[in-house]
Amino acid sequence: MYLCNLFWGERSVHAHVGPSRLVTDRALLDTYADTPGSLITILQETQETYGYLPMNVMERIAERTGTPIATIVGVATFYAQFRLEPVGKHLIMLCQGTACHVNGSELISAAVTDELGIEDGETTEDGLFSLKHVACLGCCSLSPVMMINGNTYGSLTPDKARKILRELAAEDAEGSEA
Ligand code: FES
Repeated sequence: MYLCNLFWGERSVHAHVGPSRLVTDRALLDTYADTPGSLITILQETQETYGYLPMNVMERIAERTGTPIATIVGVATFYAQFRLEPVGKHLIMLCQGTACHVNGSELISAAVTDELGIEDGETTEDGLFSLKHVACLGCCSLSPVMMINGNTYGSLTPDKARKILRELAAEDAEGSEA
């Protein structure tokens, strides 16, 4: 596992909008709503909380900040870091940049698809894994690379990628038995 120097604002969460999250939203908006230029920060924090940007939360942001909902949705769809749909517990961001492509990212993608039964943009039925193909993750010297939940895995081979996924699944299985 390696550290990459990019902030993706990625964390996957199973969505449930309960009362404590509404309190969090209110505190977040009280902190930033009147600060010009803080929309990106609000959206990043919101995604950190929910794992994606729920439409009803974006509507609350629009109301509280006085920003048209169309503007907020426009920003959310413009930047690749934002998601409008919930993702699995483990978000696999598989690099398809030039260095990774040259060093076999297609083989890694095929191994992930074979192991989990999902293609780019899909989530496993158990909600554990989502797969997303992305552009350069900023760790080209480690190519081919994938990032899962903010952790970077480099110098991948198909077998290494399968092993990582199996270990994560095993950790989850152990956690659910405890
Ligand atoms: S091309 Fe994959 S990390 Fe740069």
